[in-house]
Amino acid sequence: MKVIELKKVSKKYVLGRPFYALKDINLCVEKGEFLSILGPSGSGKSTLLHIMGLLDTPSSGEVIFKGRDALKMSEDERAEIRSKEIGFVFQFFYLSPFLTAKENVMLPMMFAGEVNEERAEELLKKVGLGDKMDNKPYQLSGGERQRVAIARALANEPSLILADEPTGNLDSKTGKDILKLFKEIWREGNTIVFVTHDKELSKAAERKVHLLDGRIVG
Ligand SMILES: Nc1ncnc2c1ncn2[C@@H]1O[C@H](COP(=O)(O)OP(=O)(O)OP(=O)(O)O)[C@@H](O)[C@H]1O
Ligand SMILES: [Mg+2]
Repeated sequence: MKVIELKKVSKKYVLGRPFYALKDINLCVEKGEFLSILGPSGSGKSTLLHIMGLLDTPSSGEVIFKGRDALKMSEDERAEIRSKEIGFVFQFFYLSPFLTAKENVMLPMMFAGEVNEERAEELLKKVGLGDKMDNKPYQLSGGERQRVAIARALANEPSLILADEPTGNLDSKTGKDILKLFKEIWREGNTIVFVTHDKELSKAAERKVHLLDGRIVG
């Protein structure tokens, strides 16, 4: 089953002269895939991930999410898919500083209208934070914060997990541990796309897409 399909997706910015952050991207992610998008800074990785996450829209092309044309949806429909179907993990974690680890994991459940405290606890145990559920972000290490963000991304059992440089702010050992965790989560049947500029890290994935100057080059 296709989770998301991009057809001839381009993203053009016009600041002075037109600039293509993405050009004619064709990409399909099947259920159960573990895909890495590898490319240098400025190659369009975040732009691509934001379009896949329905956080941004392309200037042209099609975005099909689970068989539905995402560009023909209302903003409310897109927001609902973002909330229920997509889990995001970012380089800088973006946890709420005022909430505990457990509350951070419960937050997307609240937005989706179904809070399950036990599930939040299970997810935190799964990411190895069973004993730190009541810590606030400032009481956690960088790696632990990213684990909370991963548990949060899983909160609503998403069809697709998108991670933008999830190890970019971590030392290499911690980064490898985080990728190991992604791999475990993938083996449990999740679909994961992560972005990195690090060739070594991209090898953790089952499939690699190489981005250069807004184009897929292999
Ligand atoms: N709002 C914008 N207006 C104009 N240009 C933009 C805008 N957003 C991004 N760009 C340009 O699009 C290109 C791709 O940016 P993007 O953030 O996708 O790169 P990236 O591969 O994620 O880089 P990094 O590894 O540094 O995060 C860059 O050249 C950037 O300057
Ligand atoms: Mg980026």
